[in-house]
Amino acid sequence: MPLDQVKTLPTNLPYTPQIAEEMAPLYDKVKSVIPPMEWPVFAPLIHAINLLKVERNAVILAHNYQTPEIFHGVADIVGDSLKLAREAAKVDADVIVQCGVHFMAETAKLLNPNTTVLLPDTRAGCSLAESITAQDVRDLRVKYPGVPVVTYVNTSAAVKAECDICCTSSNAVQVVESLGAERVLLVPDEFLAQNVNAQTDVEVLAFSGRCEVHERFTGQEIRDYRAGHQGLKVIAHPECPPEVLAEADFSGSTAGMIQWVQDHQPEKVMMVTECSMSDNVAVENPNVEFVRPCNLCPHMKKITLQNILQALQYNRHEVLIDPVIAAPARRSVERMIALSS
Ligand code: 13P
Ligand code: SF4
Repeated sequence: MPLDQVKTLPTNLPYTPQIAEEMAPLYDKVKSVIPPMEWPVFAPLIHAINLLKVERNAVILAHNYQTPEIFHGVADIVGDSLKLAREAAKVDADVIVQCGVHFMAETAKLLNPNTTVLLPDTRAGCSLAESITAQDVRDLRVKYPGVPVVTYVNTSAAVKAECDICCTSSNAVQVVESLGAERVLLVPDEFLAQNVNAQTDVEVLAFSGRCEVHERFTGQEIRDYRAGHQGLKVIAHPECPPEVLAEADFSGSTAGMIQWVQDHQPEKVMMVTECSMSDNVAVENPNVEFVRPCNLCPHMKKITLQNILQALQYNRHEVLIDPVIAAPARRSVERMIALSS
């Protein structure tokens, strides 16, 4: 339906008996992670978003770090950065609402340029994406002539445009090895580069970017949690410092971590990553006890049911990419997708 015919709704909607009844099966699913006091606020918003989504022929993509009311309530597709990129390319709709951060919305736009891509809050950035500029990459090329540059997907389109190929946390080793080079630059995440370097014979050169959520974990913290929780399994994201990965039973992308819990069904597990993910995974794994060191990503948390509803009502905020940047940036992402499909 065209936007001018979509009726606008207030974002403080009433929790009517009809909505309570319709939404009861969903609340039954998420009640272990959403307190009863919050549900009367969330339920009418979820109901309205799901109706408006159909009216606007929209698809909602949500990263694994989104809060449970978004992840379980309104998302059509959930996943890690790689899955969201792959799925964005396949979306056949008028609108994609990206419930994640800005670089994820840009990646969706690169891969599906004819679809309107909306990011509900423009403040949803990323400390890694902000740590490097296109000029930094040009300077690195001068400093390391002939060394291929791999860029983590957590970067702006302008940075992707300067690089040879993109990677995510789930395929970084594969991408680095695919280049057939002895030395490769992997930017901007210093810890990801060090962790990949430990898993390959290729020499992986790092930049100085860090994730403000994952850099805070320490090896000592993991040892302390293990001492306090007998039999605890620890799984960590590769944006953590190497000393944290050295203490972990498994390391992988957010999707890899979720798969590990599903496959192993540990009695007790600690996911060393952004903490909303444990809530989302707990819903599907009722027999697993989650120990939660709570580091929240302030950027991911900018996305709310209220601003998702407003995104659909007012078509905001549309993500656009300068075509001069978009063409080479798209090439970097498409090379990665071709490699890992
Ligand atoms: P994943 O690709 O593993 O989902 O990671 C994205 C991210 O931003 C982690 O902080
Ligand atoms: Fe960026 Fe870290 Fe937030 Fe992921 S968790 S979006 S890397 S700041």
